[in-house]
Amino acid sequence: MGALRNLSRPWIIAVCLSVCLKNSVYSDYEEQVMVFANRTNIHWVNQNTREHHVMPLEGITEAKYVDYDPVENMVYWSDVHHGGSISRATLCAEERETIVSDIFIQHVKAAFVSIAVDARRRAIYWTNSASDLIERVNLDGSNRTVIAEHDMGSPIDVEVDSHAGFLYWLDAGIKPRIESCSLSGKGRRVLLDLKDQYPSILELDVQTQALYWNDKNTKQLFTARMDGSSMKVLKSSIPHITGIFIEGNYIYWIDWWNKDIEKIPISGQEEASVILSPIKDMEDLISVKVVSGVVQCKAGPDWSTSIHITYNNQKLYLHVLHALPINSRPSPTWSTVP
Ligand SMILES: *[C@@H]1O[C@H](CO)[C@@H](O)[C@H](O)[C@H]1NC(C)=O
Ligand SMILES: *[C@@H]1O[C@H](CO)[C@@H](O)[C@H](O)[C@H]1NC(C)=O
Repeated sequence: MGALRNLSRPWIIAVCLSVCLKNSVYSDYEEQVMVFANRTNIHWVNQNTREHHVMPLEGITEAKYVDYDPVENMVYWSDVHHGGSISRATLCAEERETIVSDIFIQHVKAAFVSIAVDARRRAIYWTNSASDLIERVNLDGSNRTVIAEHDMGSPIDVEVDSHAGFLYWLDAGIKPRIESCSLSGKGRRVLLDLKDQYPSILELDVQTQALYWNDKNTKQLFTARMDGSSMKVLKSSIPHITGIFIEGNYIYWIDWWNKDIEKIPISGQEEASVILSPIKDMEDLISVKVVSGVVQCKAGPDWSTSIHITYNNQKLYLHVLHALPINSRPSPTWSTVP
């Protein structure tokens, strides 16, 4: 309780303010950051500090899929509104650029534009579920090309193996399957016939050379080798997952029912542990990317920050109203430092 009494002393608060301010606004983020889109905004959350940033970007309407390019430290997202587009911005959102627009011939809303960045060859691939195509474009917006088009059901998730130069995609049409081809579209083949499964997510782990996908019918998570062999159930009873991703030795998934992100070891053996909960504004969250490394965003002259300290339930809470340009500030986002 001594600590509690001390808190009322202004100099303690002043010390904390400067230390905490440094740590939360100006410091390097050397830990893992999770990037996701909730339709109207691109968010990122520091997995360790729980800092939650809403990127100050305007004009986003129906964005769900995100990817990240570690070479230029840019977030990519697709927006299926107004004909469909793919845009990018740095994590600190200093600049924003649309690299491809008019993805759809007709203006459809209920389409999937899942994206996959090939950082090595500076290109991005996407599923066009309105026209049932896999397409690509260079990251500078040039050379838009159709990679796969015939005999498609409903391509809804694409992954790229940059290293080996292959694409993998999930077709969730009436004949659900996982297919692959080279990055130019050659050598296309069905790797897995998913028969009566009802899949919605595909994930690739190049490290362990494995594919992961879900089945909403049986509520299971499946895995197989990247050549389609050795298919097995990795985890059962996962009814509400909307997105999976792999980082290090863990599989993470988004649970829309619990509104959190959970993880299990890649072996699938243990119980899932919750790593981020609750996530604010995560309705409809279906894709998250993990970014590791230094992310440094400095508050600029037209950015505003304010700080609040409260004491509640034996815990000190530090609330940071995040640095956002004044004219595009969404509702305040609060972080909590236990
Ligand atoms: C354009 O895309 C095609 C298909 O992937 C590829 O074979 C070709 O090398 C690309 N050209 C350029 C200039 O990027
Ligand atoms: C997305 O997040 C922002 C910022 O937290 C919030 O203002 C907005 O309402 C959310 N959008 C949806 C569709 O939930």
